[in-house]
Amino acid sequence: MILTSIFVCFCVASAINYLKTRRQRKTIKNLKGPFTWPLLGSMHKLLLLTPKNFFHRSSTYLAKYGKFSRCWVFHRLFIPVADRELAQQLLHNEQYLETGNELMQDWLNGGILMCNKDQWPQRHQMLSKLFEQQNLMQLVDLCRYRAVQFELKFTEKANQEVFNVWEVVSPLVMDLMVMITCGVRPTEDYTVALNSLCELYRQRFLSAQSANRFTFWLTCPLMRRRQKRLIKHLNANHKQFINQNRRQWQMQEQTKGNCFIIDAKYHQSLLDILLLQGDLSENEICGELNTCNYFGYLLCSTTICFALVMIARHPSVQMRCLEEIKKARDSAGWDLQRLPFLESVIMETLRLYPPQVIVGRELSTDFPYTHSVVGNGNLPAGAEIYINLFEMQRNGEHQLNAQHFQPERFLENPPELLSFGIGQRACPARQFTVSLLKSLLAPILEKFEFLPYGDALKLDLQLILGSRNGFQLALKER
Ligand code: HEM
Repeated sequence: MILTSIFVCFCVASAINYLKTRRQRKTIKNLKGPFTWPLLGSMHKLLLLTPKNFFHRSSTYLAKYGKFSRCWVFHRLFIPVADRELAQQLLHNEQYLETGNELMQDWLNGGILMCNKDQWPQRHQMLSKLFEQQNLMQLVDLCRYRAVQFELKFTEKANQEVFNVWEVVSPLVMDLMVMITCGVRPTEDYTVALNSLCELYRQRFLSAQSANRFTFWLTCPLMRRRQKRLIKHLNANHKQFINQNRRQWQMQEQTKGNCFIIDAKYHQSLLDILLLQGDLSENEICGELNTCNYFGYLLCSTTICFALVMIARHPSVQMRCLEEIKKARDSAGWDLQRLPFLESVIMETLRLYPPQVIVGRELSTDFPYTHSVVGNGNLPAGAEIYINLFEMQRNGEHQLNAQHFQPERFLENPPELLSFGIGQRACPARQFTVSLLKSLLAPILEKFEFLPYGDALKLDLQLILGSRNGFQLALKER
């Protein structure tokens, strides 16, 4: 009896699902994809995906179904894309800006990633103010100033013993990022909470329980409580910063005309900028701070680690960087404009190891495309597109020796770098990030020799690109 009821329910649910998705199915008839079971779709494909096997499985999948395919899971239509032609059309199209990032909703809620299409231009304009020329120079000065901390930390490790460079780099980058976004140095408490939250999200990524908010709510009550507590703690801190900032402004207003410096900070932080605009709620401000902390902390730390491992394992590249850095130095520090080779090392690192591996879009209306292989067609409203930057940038069709680390390619005939995204929704911090990376890397490359000791990288995907055995290397003072 029970089995019969289950069977009947299954049949009814499958029929409803089929009817609901009929139009979408018809629209994507031209796309290949894995076998679709009634109701469940190709859930087996997702269940077998883990952070460890992601890259192996995704290249096998691409070899079998092509760089542009479809995959159903229940009523959800996933379109995995590793195809430049389609990715460029979609990302450059101003109509399709929704990112649909469900996993991060609780944390980044209220921020630019989660806001709707109509709010997006205003938010984008606000965030871009952080990186306008005058402030950008101040931010880069802050990075140069913080680079001294990097030198000190690396000096402690300069004994030629193998260590995981992530452990040195990530706390310093977090410190710097919070100064840029919130305008203050983070307390120990804040640092622990932000770090724990990132780790929690890394565990949630690709886990079956976290497939959507409902399954997470149902199956992970303890984790959910911890997540809620950490987000609440961070936002309580943000609200405190907001109040401090408002009080400081009031005092500045009152003491106008007196020769009395209240604030020794020269750059405008993201918080200053958001408060000056005046019309965002506290929750929206928290959302923006969380978004930039997430991007800035995780993506910049990862890029520095990959860059250092690559430099350590390519002595000729290290030598060329050193020569350039010595020439670009004057009494005031480094002229970042005179470090083109270091910049190409950073670009090449980002090409081979894009920390944000996947860029997502959720279609609210049909997307008509033209394609030289698949032919012309439509992607239906409701489809979730996942653009795999990692696979696209390692594809040999677009450049020679695409799998090899060859920074010179960015000096000679630069390929289009996709790691910051492209089109309207591309990373607004691109120019600043490159300056930040140069100003942190130049001093340590001049002072230390990085040695290719330790185990090779073992790539995995836990929210962002990483290495499951860390980023091992050793160093000595020059
Ligand atoms: C190596 C470092 C970084 C990389 C690789 C990177 C990459 C990306 C990518 C791939 C996107 C998504 C683009 C899309 O959906 O089309 C993005 C968006 C964004 N990034 Fe970055 N990013 C980096 C650093 C930063 C930093 C330091 C900040 C801020 C301090 C930042 C702030 C943002 C913001 C606010 C967005 C959302 C833009 C929007 O939705 O319109 N990023 N970034």
